[in-house]
Amino acid sequence: MAQIIGGVGTTHVPSIGKAIAENKQNDPYWKPFFKGFDYVHYWLARTKPDVAVVFYNDHGLNFFLDKLPTFAVGAANEYRSEDEGWGIPVSRPVPGDAALSWHLINALVADEFDVTTCQEMLIDHAVTIPMALMWPGPTWPVRIVPIEINTVQHPLPTLARCFKLGRSIGRALESYERNLRVVVVGTGGLSHQLDGARAGFINKEFDELCLNKIVAEPEALARYSIHEWVKQSGSQGVEFLNWMAMRGALTGRVSELNRNYHIPISNTAAATVVYDNQRNVERKAA
Ligand code: DHB
Ligand code: FE
Repeated sequence: MAQIIGGVGTTHVPSIGKAIAENKQNDPYWKPFFKGFDYVHYWLARTKPDVAVVFYNDHGLNFFLDKLPTFAVGAANEYRSEDEGWGIPVSRPVPGDAALSWHLINALVADEFDVTTCQEMLIDHAVTIPMALMWPGPTWPVRIVPIEINTVQHPLPTLARCFKLGRSIGRALESYERNLRVVVVGTGGLSHQLDGARAGFINKEFDELCLNKIVAEPEALARYSIHEWVKQSGSQGVEFLNWMAMRGALTGRVSELNRNYHIPISNTAAATVVYDNQRNVERKAA
């Protein structure tokens, strides 16, 4: 059976790719952010996942405003990236796991999530930057299933809906017959706004509330409306939808193993977390 070992949440700001290419991890600007990955590397080396299910939002590379699915699941054995215009090196391709993707797609549709299935899908910085941060070596030791959530063009799915999407993925993983170790990843956030009158907006208090509530009380966050979220977290702070899906997929006993929060990276309040997911052990009656 597949086992969900835990979750990782991370910001996906493109300029991180430039910092990596230029080896700036120890520069004063970047160090407080990159240091937050020391624990992630230690934990991944210990837990050795085979697969990463990555909840992310596409920013116009694979989908554009003319056709933008609310939820799309990759079903390929390889995902390529392309130049997005940020002036950062194009990422190497990431291996996929089409068989697992189809298992998840079947389970989602059976659970009444009408997802778009993508047998070809370009992945953008919202997948490639977290990959480069989590596994900084020359090869990536995991296969991925990328799951896109629309955080770009309103109406967006609700926080509650994304949490339920994650729940469905969690149940599907636990019923998968192959012996895989799975890490679930949510990318983007936390508070940020890239344009408009509030460009540069960051809300540290609200970010801390989110990081505190998501572990033990995710249902409290699921009650926020999207409009209230934009008000509190900025127009791109809605990328937290990816984190809600990640948290939903952790179906066991969840605890925070590590947290790093740093303002700002580019225009964004950067957060990196690792969550443990202990399988619920059913106690037999004596
Ligand atoms: C930035 C943040 C993002 O989430 C993104 O997708 C692009 C840019 C930024 O802070 O610059
Ligand atoms: Fe983004």
